[in-house]
Amino acid sequence: LHVAVLMGGLSAEREVSLSSGEQCARALERQGVRVSRVDAGRDLANVLAGLIKPDVVLNCLHGAWGEDGCVQGVLETLKIPYTHSGVLASALAMDKDKSKAVLRAAGVKVPGGGLFDRHEVASRHVIDPPYVIKPNAEGSSVGVFLVPEGANRPQAEVGAPDWAYGEQVMVEPYIAGKELCVTVIGEATGPRALTVTDITPTKGFYDYEAKYAPGGSVHVLPAVLPAHVFETALRQAELAHTAMGCRGVSRSDFRYDDVKDDLVLLEVNTQPGMTPTSLAPEQAAYSGMSYEDLVRWMVEDASC
Ligand code: DAL
Ligand code: MG
Repeated sequence: LHVAVLMGGLSAEREVSLSSGEQCARALERQGVRVSRVDAGRDLANVLAGLIKPDVVLNCLHGAWGEDGCVQGVLETLKIPYTHSGVLASALAMDKDKSKAVLRAAGVKVPGGGLFDRHEVASRHVIDPPYVIKPNAEGSSVGVFLVPEGANRPQAEVGAPDWAYGEQVMVEPYIAGKELCVTVIGEATGPRALTVTDITPTKGFYDYEAKYAPGGSVHVLPAVLPAHVFETALRQAELAHTAMGCRGVSRSDFRYDDVKDDLVLLEVNTQPGMTPTSLAPEQAAYSGMSYEDLVRWMVEDASC
């Protein structure tokens, strides 16, 4: 078996992907699998079809191009089996606004708010603070701002000439309480939620640093929650995996307002991080699947 591990790539999450990819490559090598590390550039089709000719692609890309259906389309065209979701689910999940419409229709509770022109968002409060501004199609909290209660100015960065994350931005009411996540594995028709993790950032909110700096956040799993909330999170994550048409591994991120007893699904990630501080491998380990088992399972599950 010869596996090409796609990593790096062209997105703002390049560094995260290099870390995910390296961890996965090593896990396969520890199991005696032949691995080629492929830093995915615009020559990807030529590199894979002409040079590497792998049996399977393990996609460890995050963000634009690698997670949004583009690379999945290249792999479909080349007829190389690949891990994680296909073209449609990947493209859908990468678009927060469209995802919310599909999830809402499937009966999953999602945040309010919507898309606004970034210049408008930079010039006035388009909804009452506290609220969150985020790019419509990025990951790892890149370009995310929390506008706190009582703030008298919106976030100027969003209107700056060098803003690189789209002319429309998602603005959602801030949901107080806990940050939770649930990893789901399997086909869209037979999803299995692993467990619920409660994430507490060491300082501020769960931003890029809290996600990837060692000690940036504390993960409690299984999360300590009322039983109905725990159960609802598992079922909603499975429902989301199915509604979006995901395959392989996905991770749904939630906010739980414990005062209002309100659980809201923020987004579905179709290429969950596999770094040393990432949540999906931790949940797999809790479920009795080592990092090696998880990566092996992904490769065996690959299709095109
Ligand atoms: N976007 C990052 C990699 C995640 O969801 O884990
Ligand atoms: Mg994300």
